[in-house]
Amino acid sequence: MNLILLGAPGAGKGTLASYLIEKMGIPSISTGNILREAIKNNTPLGQQAKGFMDAGQLVPDDLVINLLKERIAKRDCKSGFILDGFPRTIPQAEALDEIANIDCALLVDVPYEVIEKRMTGRRVCLRCGATYHVEANPPRIQGVCDICGDKLVIRSDDQPEVVKRRHETYHEQTEPLIGYYDAQGKLKRIDGTQGIRETEKLAVEALGL
Ligand code: AP5
Ligand code: MG
Repeated sequence: MNLILLGAPGAGKGTLASYLIEKMGIPSISTGNILREAIKNNTPLGQQAKGFMDAGQLVPDDLVINLLKERIAKRDCKSGFILDGFPRTIPQAEALDEIANIDCALLVDVPYEVIEKRMTGRRVCLRCGATYHVEANPPRIQGVCDICGDKLVIRSDDQPEVVKRRHETYHEQTEPLIGYYDAQGKLKRIDGTQGIRETEKLAVEALGL
C-alpha cells in the first residue's frame, strides 16, 4: 500500500508512522526528518531549508519534490511506503500523482488546543528521527533515545510562536489537500485526540489492516 498521513503539525503523524512501519512492513518517509538531518550535517539542502523551517514556513516545492522522488525510487519502497509530511501543497500532490499510485490519504484529525500541549512536551532524536513526549510517550531513560541511544532534543521549530506560524501555514497551504484526496475517493479520517494506542487502533480499523 502507498499511504499518505495527513494532519496538522503535531497531530501525531510521525508517532503513528513508527507504529505502521512495524504493522505494515513498509518504510515511512518523513520529509521533515530528512530535512532536519540535512541541516544537522550542514549539506547544501540543509542550508537552503533551514531559514524556512525555523520560520515555520514550507521549504520550496522543487526542493522537497526532488528529495521525495529520489527517496521513493529506492528499493525498500518497491512494495509500498508511508508518507509523513508529504505532500503539503497541491503542486506536491500533483507531482506525486505523476510518479506513484496513492491508495489512501489518512487524515489524523486533532484540534489546535490539543496540539499546543503536545508540542511543549515533545522530544526528538535527530539521528534516527524517533519522537517522544515527556508524559504521553517518555523514553526509558530520560533524554536518551530508546532506539539508537543518541541524545534527545527539543526541535528548534517547537517554540510556541513558530508552532502557531506552522499552523497558519498548514491551514493556508496543506488543508486544501483534504479536498484533493476526497475528490479522488482516497480520503479516510480518524480522530487523533485519543491516546497513542487508541489512535493506532483507529488507524488499523480505517485501513483494514
Ligand atoms: P515535519 O517534521 O513534517 O513537521 P510537521 O508536519 O509540522 O509535523 P510534526 O512532526 O511537528 O508533527 P507530527 O504530526 O509528526 O506529530 P508527532 O508524532 O511528532 O516538518 C517540519 C518542517 O519541515 C515544516 O514546517 C517545513 O518547513 C519542512 N517540510 C517538511 N516537509 C515538507 C514538505 N513536504 N514541503 C515543504 N516543507 C516541508 O507528535 C507530536 C507530539 O505529540 C510528540 O511529542 C508525540 O509523542 C505526542 N503524541 C503523538 N500522538 C499522541 C497522542 N495520540 N496522544 C498524546 N500525545 C501524542
Ligand atoms: Mg513529524
